[in-house]
Amino acid sequence: MPRATSFGLRAADYDRYRPTPHPEALDRVLPERAATVVDLAAGTGLVTRALLARPTPPAVVIAIEPDARMLARVDGAARAQGAAEHLPLRDGSVDAVLASSAWHWFDAEAATAEIARVLRPGGTLGLLWSRADPTVDWVDDVRTIGRAATDGSARLSRRGFACTLPEGHGFVDDTPTAVHVRWTRTMTRDEIAGMVCTYSGVLELDPAAQREVFDAARARLDELVAGPDPVEVPFETVARRWTLEGAAPCE
Ligand SMILES: C[S@@+](CC[C@H](N)C(=O)[O-])C[C@H]1O[C@@H](n2cnc3c(N)ncnc32)[C@H](O)[C@@H]1O
Repeated sequence: MPRATSFGLRAADYDRYRPTPHPEALDRVLPERAATVVDLAAGTGLVTRALLARPTPPAVVIAIEPDARMLARVDGAARAQGAAEHLPLRDGSVDAVLASSAWHWFDAEAATAEIARVLRPGGTLGLLWSRADPTVDWVDDVRTIGRAATDGSARLSRRGFACTLPEGHGFVDDTPTAVHVRWTRTMTRDEIAGMVCTYSGVLELDPAAQREVFDAARARLDELVAGPDPVEVPFETVARRWTLEGAAPCE
């Protein structure tokens, strides 16, 4: 199975443990009057739910996701199975496309061309990434257990979310300085260890090896984090936005 669609192996855990982007970051990348919004690579619908919960939700939210096991968990919005490189949408039919914790899985050139095709002129592309904050030592230590078990790139999690769109598709960068929101989430140690096991490298391991990652993460949390459950876990959401040239932006 391709690594890009390994998340559906544990769709329920993914939905339970993974973070939703912070609302402030969502506010910064979503134009206020965007009526038709696509949650691309929607997964289990964390962003779709956040969109529907806004004080003024977009009139139409469309969740697009290639993995049927993930898409089945999306509720309350239009759903379509599809990939970023071949979007099941008409030309110029949407106001905004959002992709959360997913851009690195796409063929950037093909996805950028497809997103430019389906956006109306003046429409926007918002990219977001959310994760437990690896600049905090104990967080990095625990995340590293999952990464070290799979690809050995123990320090990979300190890398940032550098992202430039391929040129020539008409996008203008609205956020030369990325939006960066730091926040905390209340989780038990079991939930933190469960979250470590929802990353693609761990999902590819056999069940016994996955259990070992969980147990190692759980034991390390007992060593590193003082006090009873639950724990305040530091998170970060990083976001970028681009506008498709050709008309006034819709805000
Ligand atoms: C880390 S998950 C992010 C899910 C969701 N956006 C979130 O924030 O929780 C990455 C998602 O990208 C999807 N994906 C992988 N390759 C894709 C592609 N080429 N086009 C669209 N989605 C893709 C996976 O199936 C998975 O649901």
